[in-house]
Amino acid sequence: MSDQHRNPTTNDAGNPVASDEHALSVGADGPIVLHDHYLMEQMAAFNREMIPDRQPHAKGGGAFGHFQVTRDVSRYTKAKFLQKGTKTDVVIRFSTVAGEAGSPDTWRDPRGFAVKFYTEDGNFDMVGNNTPVFFVRDPMKFQHFIHSQKRRADNGLRDNDMQWDFWTQSPESAHQVAWLMGDRGVPATWRHMNGYSSHTYMWVNEDGERFWVKYHFKTDQGIKCMTQEQADQMAGADADYHRRDLFKAIERGDYPTWTLNVQIMPFEDAKTYRINPFDLTKVWPHEDYPLHEVGKLTLDRNPTDFHSEIEQAAFEPNNMVPGTGLSPDKMLLARSVSYADAHRARLGVNYKQLPVNEPRCPVHSYSKGGAMRIRKTEDPVYAPNTKGGPAADPHRYPEQAVWSADGELVREAYTLRPDDGDFNQAHDLVTKVMDDAARERLVNNVAGHVLDGVEEPVLSRVFEYWRNIDKDIGERIEKAVRAEKQ
Ligand code: NDP
Ligand code: HEM
Repeated sequence: MSDQHRNPTTNDAGNPVASDEHALSVGADGPIVLHDHYLMEQMAAFNREMIPDRQPHAKGGGAFGHFQVTRDVSRYTKAKFLQKGTKTDVVIRFSTVAGEAGSPDTWRDPRGFAVKFYTEDGNFDMVGNNTPVFFVRDPMKFQHFIHSQKRRADNGLRDNDMQWDFWTQSPESAHQVAWLMGDRGVPATWRHMNGYSSHTYMWVNEDGERFWVKYHFKTDQGIKCMTQEQADQMAGADADYHRRDLFKAIERGDYPTWTLNVQIMPFEDAKTYRINPFDLTKVWPHEDYPLHEVGKLTLDRNPTDFHSEIEQAAFEPNNMVPGTGLSPDKMLLARSVSYADAHRARLGVNYKQLPVNEPRCPVHSYSKGGAMRIRKTEDPVYAPNTKGGPAADPHRYPEQAVWSADGELVREAYTLRPDDGDFNQAHDLVTKVMDDAARERLVNNVAGHVLDGVEEPVLSRVFEYWRNIDKDIGERIEKAVRAEKQ
């Protein structure tokens, strides 16, 4: 491009600047003057280019696309974006949980699967993982859990002993740990993994009838995983392998898709089902609650500014639209306040006005002022008012996604049901779903992980934990570890 067709460099106020190369000086050999405000602007902006990382899920990548409903699920939900034929724009972010922003994509870890649907009733966020369950069932343990997966206070190193110390004293983690140590603990790419809400949510239909649902986004690319050796090798060769893979696939027009299915439980079933349906460490077996197809998610557009479109994206499970709702899952209820708080700390109080988070429908809220406010506030700034300000309409938008609760205030997570044992579903996974070869890889993965720093007394508890999941697997892990330790 010839120079006369190039835009002149300006400062952030749009004023043309005199030089891209030189600071303003008192003579070519003299000092730089304080009033070179363009130099100041450059240095100040540079020093603030990074925003705080997400804590957790710091490393990730994402893309844009759409979701189209292919089946009629209006019997179960009146949500407008879930009506047959409706097409809704989305942004998605995939991530690892424990690593920092520059950490390798192929470390063994669950993957985040966060989708924001820009619906005509405001944003709906499904902030899930690539696994159908989680490590703990009570939000009081979440912070401790994340600390145990990240770095020690003294030397700043990650520590497998710390991880197993937490897991073995938290038997409810067995199902998720068995899943994580299996093949799906390192997906080959983000395109080749499923996404799950993991939690139970609510749907409400036009008649006000309520249902419990779990969302399953099944990859249409097929499941592909990496072995531990492949993952270790890739961590050194290309730490950004998953981010690169998604970007390149979309760039060459190879758009990844997922089919959304839901499991649906009638509202009353939850009271008597043999497994507590709100316990995040459990799945609903498919033979009890089969999958119902809903629609297709397609990713077809890459970000052009990673910072403003992906790093500044703020997902929160409390973003709900009429026809959808939360559930009594204690983890979900805690998440419904934690994420907005994290966003205020990370991005500022007006984070919902950043372009990637902005709803694609009119906003008529009474929020006002605050740092970095973009949208103008209009009078009246209070409700109720007689000045024509917005007014809630309980007839059009009744509070429908509700349930009843009663009892003493206690510190407990759920009353036990007949099939609520901590190890039952982990046992099913390793004995019924995995085949011999997958079980052999599982034993090797656990033994390799444990041999890297786990010491007594945690070590003996690891063997007991695995024997509780499955006696044979536990013994094989112990044998493999003891053989190496001799
Ligand atoms: P099913 O036989 O009906 O389904 C097995 C499920 O396991 C499928 O969803 C399958 O996913 C998934 N799966 C296959 N291989 C693996 C693996 N190596 N690691 C993790 N998941 C895998 O079983 P049930 O519904 O009766 O559940 C049995 C066990 O399957 C559960 O204890 C749970 O651990 C696991 N599972 C169950 C899910 C559920 O929602 N019911 C969801 C995911 C796992 P896909 O079809 O995509 O291959
Ligand atoms: C990110 C809290 C459980 C999925 C985060 C963040 C916080 C958080 C504070 C960072 C948010 C940000 O800065 O943008 C919690 C708490 C939990 C919990 C308190 C339990 C009590 C879960 C569960 C899942 C999950 C069970 C999946 C089912 C995610 C994902 C992200 C995330 C995908 C990254 C979102 C993104 O890409 O921006 N979590 N979390 N979390 N969490 Fe959780």
